[in-house]
Amino acid sequence: MANTELASFLLSKVDQLPAVASLASLWDESGTLMPDAIDRIQSAAAADPVLARMIQQSGEFTLHSMMMALGLRTVEMLMTATEGDRVNSETLELMQGNLWRHSRIVGYCCQALARESGYRNTHDAFVAGLFHDIGKAVLNRYAFDEINAVLRVTSAKAKALFTAEDEAFGFNHSYIGAKMCTHWGLPPHIREAVEHHHTPEKATLDVSLTEIVHLGNVLVNWIQMKLGLKSNFYPLRPYILDKFAIPTERLRQLAEEANEIVQRQG
Ligand SMILES: [Fe+2]
Ligand SMILES: [Fe+2]
Repeated sequence: MANTELASFLLSKVDQLPAVASLASLWDESGTLMPDAIDRIQSAAAADPVLARMIQQSGEFTLHSMMMALGLRTVEMLMTATEGDRVNSETLELMQGNLWRHSRIVGYCCQALARESGYRNTHDAFVAGLFHDIGKAVLNRYAFDEINAVLRVTSAKAKALFTAEDEAFGFNHSYIGAKMCTHWGLPPHIREAVEHHHTPEKATLDVSLTEIVHLGNVLVNWIQMKLGLKSNFYPLRPYILDKFAIPTERLRQLAEEANEIVQRQG
């Protein structure tokens, strides 16, 4: 499949994934979370029994629970191959499970980084962190062979996954993730943070949020993969550490704490 064909094929799949119609109404036009977001979440759940069940399982109606339910529901749908697909079901399930675990840790890590750095909207940091790699879930499911070929290149040549994807496809998972955010009706600054989590210098709407997601992702990879902070696989933009001015040990602690939260959730 040519690159443009692959991109349009994936985008058509994004459009078919479940969305929550009232999600867009949780933020106002300036991108501020509505004060009655909890009521709005309750009415979204009332109109969507599957979502309601998933939120209820977590025991609370909060923005966190709703986003976790939406993400889990989407990732679970993307775990199941249909007949005739050239997908190894066990491998796919493992890839999606690992991805969702990583995503949740990054969500909590970004929330903690937001608190630590004085970024006011810790909820948005959580949401952007939670969905930063959602494009990977689409690629894993619908471009299984292609993504596995790219993964072989990353380990053979110690390249970042997004770079190898760019070279192979002409786009990477951040692009697909941003389309997913638009499909869900998430506000532009969250979409931007997802789109540029590997290229934070390109952010214009909310630079701090994109930088938080960029750093949060690298920190979580640092502790999850036991890689150095300056690994080639997950390159950290050099100016970011100076900008945050948080000691490395403290950054590591924030990522470890985020990891513990997710471990406790199971
Ligand atoms: Fe990524
Ligand atoms: Fe990531």
